[in-house]
Formats: sequence, structure tokens, C-alpha cells
Amino acid sequence: MKGIILAGGAGTRLHPATRVINKQLLPVYDKPMIYYVLSTLMLGGIREVLIITSPEARPLYEELLGDGAWLGMRLEYATQAKPNGVPEALIIGREFLDGGPCAFILGDNIFVGHMLGEMLESVRQRDDGATIFVCRVSDPERYGVVDLDADGNVVGVVEKPSAPPSNWAITGLYILDSKGSDIAQGLTPSARGELEMVDVIGDYMERGALSVEKLGRGYAWLDSGTHESLLDAAQYIATIEQRQGLKIACLEEIALRKGFIDLPAFKALAENYPASSYGLYLRTLLEEGYLDV
Ligand code: DAU
Repeated sequence: MKGIILAGGAGTRLHPATRVINKQLLPVYDKPMIYYVLSTLMLGGIREVLIITSPEARPLYEELLGDGAWLGMRLEYATQAKPNGVPEALIIGREFLDGGPCAFILGDNIFVGHMLGEMLESVRQRDDGATIFVCRVSDPERYGVVDLDADGNVVGVVEKPSAPPSNWAITGLYILDSKGSDIAQGLTPSARGELEMVDVIGDYMERGALSVEKLGRGYAWLDSGTHESLLDAAQYIATIEQRQGLKIACLEEIALRKGFIDLPAFKALAENYPASSYGLYLRTLLEEGYLDV
């Protein structure tokens, strides 16, 4: 399965921090936001990823992540001229997907959880339909929200409702079969002038082809939409990393653990890394025992 990351947007809610820099390049504690997003796909075993961003930001992503060979991956890039809505990524990515299914993730969605990779690996074995991941939040009016019946089945999806039908927010991670691009192509813009992901999800729901995975207490879905939530996310990552001495979303480590690269390739990356705490961590991992964790 291939992956798509949508990392464009105007980032106006974070101005002036994002006035000249794309939001997903901002640091969340010790690494750029896009590292966390890419790491989620990598943990799910996905090695071919299309990164869609604004025309101005594209060269920066290309410089940061390159063709992905250093991670044993294949990274491609595409641009979205204007933020016309999240599902436009599925239209832009049509050729890249080449009729196949995809794991689609929004560039500002950070997931942390021990079993994330295993869960994604198992969900992506499903051949047909779509899977969404929902998470309990205290402020559902800020997100897409699912309406669940007594048996936990989804009976409705709604974007940023003023009267939310539940506290289960739809996270920005979607596993879609090959129909995703066609559905997106057939959408018309909502009242706020954007193509909406809830309309794609609603299409699957109406055909009985929607699965929902609830992210329970073992997972953290971090928000990065406001200055406060971005700071909270950074502090959350910092607290865990400092306590455990293990990094979250260290791409080189994940590439090694997933078998995308071998130990000599990892060694070369670690040894050539500048003397930041990230570089020190890579070198520490090489010490006996650390890679067994
Ligand atoms: O984060 C989850 C939420 O993401 C879902 O609950 C909502 O259903 C979904 O619509 C989306 O809502 P947001 O209001 O958070 O979307 P936002 O416009 O902030 O964009 C999310 C990310 O996608 C952000 O990193 C910018 C990027 N983006 C967004 C749009 C609309 C683009 O690159 N291009 C776009 O056209």
C-alpha cells in the first residue's frame, strides 16, 4: 500500500509563526512536524509516499527528506496550488496511486501509541472500503465527528458541528480502497468553499463500506492547530522522550527497526549526523542493547 501526506495549507491560524514557513515544517520539540506524520506511515509498513504541499514549500520538503532512499523508502512530491480542501489530495495523487489503495494522512496529525504500527499493518490488510480512526476529545466541534448508534456503528459523519452528535472526532488518518480518488473527483465544495473529507467518508458509509477504529486510552492524538496545542504537543513529546531516553518519530531508527535499511546503512547515518541531541541519540542506539527495546 502507498501513502499520501497532505502538508500544504495556509496555516493562517498560526500566523505569524507560519507566515513564511509551512506549518508542517515547524518543530514539535526536537524535530519537524512532518517527521511524526511520516513515522506513522512507516510504522504501518508503508515505504512509498507522496508528499503534497504548496508550491513554495515543496523545495524545502525535497531538501529535508529527499527521495527517501536514505530511509529505504521512495518519496515523491506534488503541489496543491491552493488549499481547496483535504480530498483534493486524492485527486492530485491519482496517478501516484495508480488504481491502488492508500493510507492518507494529514500533515498536522501526530499519533503516539505503542501498538500504532501493528494496528495499521492489520487494518491495511482489508481489501475493500475505508477505515477511519476516531478519538475521544473534549472539543468535538473543532473536528469531523461521527454519530454512533447503540452498537457502535457509524450512522452519520459531520464536519465541525455546532451540536456534536458524539465526542468521537475523526482523526486525519484514512485507509481508503481504490475508489477514494473517484469519490473525491465527484465532490462539490461545501458551504465554506472546500472539498470535505466527511463527504468522502459519508460516501463509504452509505455503501456500507466504512470501518471505524476507536483509538483508546493507549494512544495519544496530538493537536497542532493552535499555538497552545502546539506547545502542549511539544511538551508531551519532550516529557516522554526525556523520561524514557527513547525518541518518538526518529525516522532512521524506525527505518532500521522495520527493516527498510540495514545496520551498516544506519551506522553511516548515525556517524555522519551533526552533534545535536538527535545525532547523539542515533549514536547511542548503536550501543549494545538499545536496539533491543
Ligand atoms: O485533524 C483532523 C481533522 O482534519 C478532521 O477531523 C476533519 O474532518 C478534517 O476536515 C480536517 O479538519 P481541519 O479543519 O483540521 O483541516 P485543516 O484545514 O486544518 O487542514 C488539515 C491539514 O491539511 C493541515 O495540515 C493543512 C492541510 N491542508 C488542508 C487543506 C484544507 C492542505 O494541505 N490543503 C488543503 O486544501
